[in-house]
Amino acid sequence: MKLLVTGGAGFIGSNFIRYVLREHADDRVVNLDKLTYAGNPANLADIQRDPRYAFVQGDICDAALVRETLRGVDAVVNFAAESHVDRSLVEPDGFLRTDVFGVFTLLEAVRECRIPRLLHISTDEVYGSVAHGSSAEQDPLRPSNPYSASKAGGDLLALSYWRTHGVPVVITRSSNNFGPYQYPEKVVPLFITNAIDDQPLPLYGDGRNVRDWLYVLDNCAAIDLVLRRGRDGEVYNIGGGHEVENVVLTHEILRLTGKPETLIRRVTDRPGHDRRYSVDSTKVGQLGWAPRHPFAAALETTVRWYREHESWWRPLKSGEFRAWYERQYANR
Ligand code: NAD
Ligand code: DAU
Repeated sequence: MKLLVTGGAGFIGSNFIRYVLREHADDRVVNLDKLTYAGNPANLADIQRDPRYAFVQGDICDAALVRETLRGVDAVVNFAAESHVDRSLVEPDGFLRTDVFGVFTLLEAVRECRIPRLLHISTDEVYGSVAHGSSAEQDPLRPSNPYSASKAGGDLLALSYWRTHGVPVVITRSSNNFGPYQYPEKVVPLFITNAIDDQPLPLYGDGRNVRDWLYVLDNCAAIDLVLRRGRDGEVYNIGGGHEVENVVLTHEILRLTGKPETLIRRVTDRPGHDRRYSVDSTKVGQLGWAPRHPFAAALETTVRWYREHESWWRPLKSGEFRAWYERQYANR
C-alpha cells in the first residue's frame, strides 16, 4: 500500500510510520505535516533516508496541497490535530481549524480523488466523563472541552460523509497513549522529565482523575489492523485496559526515576476536567487485537527512553515550551 499519513511528525504518527515500515516491507508512506510546535522531524530521523518514506511540510486545511499529495495513494491515516486539552482551554481557534475544518478538507479530497480508505484517528474523550462502566462505540458523544468537542465534530463529519456520499471512512478512538517521542507537555513525559530535573510535578485537583493508559506501540498495532481489516463506516475503540488514578501514576513515575514524593505539587484543577475515561475494546478485539505491553514494563521502558534521550527532549523544553509552561503553571 501507499499511505498518506497526516500529522506523522507528532507522537503517535511518528511511532505509527516506523511501525508500518517495519511490519510491511512493501508499503510506502508520504507524511504530510504542518510542523506545529508538536511536530518534530527528529521523531523520524532514523528513517529520513528510507526510500519508502517521503515528507511534505503542509497543512491539512490546504485543499490543493492535500489533493496533490493524494496522487497514487491507497489509504489516508489522519493523525493531524491540535491535541493538548489545556491549550484548547486558552487557544481554541487552532483546534476548530485543524480538528474540524482540516478533517472536512481531507474528506472532500478523499471523496473527489476516490481514495479507497480514510482512517481517522479520534479519541475516547469524545464520550466525555464516564462515571461507571465503559463507553461502547454507539454511545452518545458528550465532549467536555474545546479539544474533545472539536474531535467529536471531526468524527461526526467523517461519519456523515460515509452515510451521505459513501466516502470509505473508518474511525479509531483510543485512550491515553504513552511512550517514546511524546511532546513533554502531556502528563507522562512532563512528569518524567521534571522528575529527572528535580522539578515539581504539578498534579491537578485531588489527583484522583482516572485515565486508561495504552502503550503507543499497542495503539499502532490496533490502528494498523483497523486500517487493513476494519469495516467502512465503523468506529473502533482502543483501550489499554489499565485504568489508574493520576496520583498513583505520579507515585509510579517517582519510584521509577528514584525521586522523592516531596516533588509532588498540588495545583488548581483543570476547568471541566473529566473524571474518568474508559472504553470497551471488544470490537477491535474481534479483529484479533489485544494490548501486548503490560503497563508496568511499558512505563519502565518509557522512563528509560527519556533518560537515554535527553538530547531529544531538552531542546523541546526550552523555547516555545518554556513560555507555555510559565503561563500555564506559574500562578496555579
Ligand atoms: P501530537 O500533538 O503529538 O501531534 C500532532 C501532529 O499533527 C504534529 O506533528 C503536528 O505538527 C501535526 N499537525 C497539527 N496541525 C496540523 C495541520 N493543520 N496540518 C498538518 N499537520 C498538522 O498528537 P498525538 O498525541 O500524536 O495525537 C495524534 C492523534 O491521536 C490526534 O488526532 C489526537 O487527537 C489523537 N489521540 C491522541 C491520544 C494521546 O494520548 N496522545 C489519545 C487518543 C487520540
Ligand atoms: O484520552 C485520550 C486523550 O488523552 C487524547 O485525546 C489527548 O490528545 C491527550 O492529550 C490525552 O488527554 P488528557 O487530558 O487525558 O492528557 P494529559 O496528559 O493532558 O492529562 C492526563 C491527566 O493528567 C489528566 O487527568 C490531567 C492530569 N494532569 C495533566 C497535566 C498536563 C496533571 O495532573 N498535571 C499536568 O500537568
